[in-house]
Amino acid sequence: MQLCFASRNEHKLAEIQAIVGDKFEIIGLDAIGCTAELPETTDTIEGNSHQKARYIWEHFGVDCFADDSGLLVDALNGEPGVHTAYYSGSRVAEDNINFLLHKLAHTTQRQAHFKSVITLIIKGIEHQFTGIVEGEVLLQKRGEGGFGYDPIFLPQGYTQSFAEMTMEEKNPISHRGRALQQLVDFLTKYEK
Ligand code: IMP
Repeated sequence: MQLCFASRNEHKLAEIQAIVGDKFEIIGLDAIGCTAELPETTDTIEGNSHQKARYIWEHFGVDCFADDSGLLVDALNGEPGVHTAYYSGSRVAEDNINFLLHKLAHTTQRQAHFKSVITLIIKGIEHQFTGIVEGEVLLQKRGEGGFGYDPIFLPQGYTQSFAEMTMEEKNPISHRGRALQQLVDFLTKYEK
């Protein structure tokens, strides 16, 4: 079964392909001739996920899914949330990490969670899947792998930051991995 994944993020494409395996053929935006920037103008992770998938369905008419993720920090009332990608005003991971560490400099409350919401549209019908990983924001960066906030996120129950984990270690416990697993479970049943 062919599905378009509404993203141009190479890290995510690689993560998703690793999880989905060869059961499904995942095609990117280039394969459907989509060169536009996808809209992400709502004020929730759920809303942006919906908006991106809907855009692909309405403009290209192909079965598709989109994801939207964010880091929600308890001590910051859920910030950066929908603003995670450009929290510092820049999309540079280093800047965003430093900005977040600065915001948390005066608190010992480090609890946070990543949330990923996948919106699947098949034959025009929409389904959402939500994955969450609880953890804490570290005091400083640890590890060289991953992307985004990985160096400062320690998942609950683990001793390695996301950036110290391999993809094989991170995928099964990550917010995106968990949301994707729900997607794959759904698709597997859907095909029967
Ligand atoms: P997106 O909506 O999935 O593109 O995620 C928004 C932003 O959240 C990204 O630009 C990253 O900064 C951050 N983010 C999402 N997922 C992860 C992750 O697995 N590790 C680290 N940062 C992430």
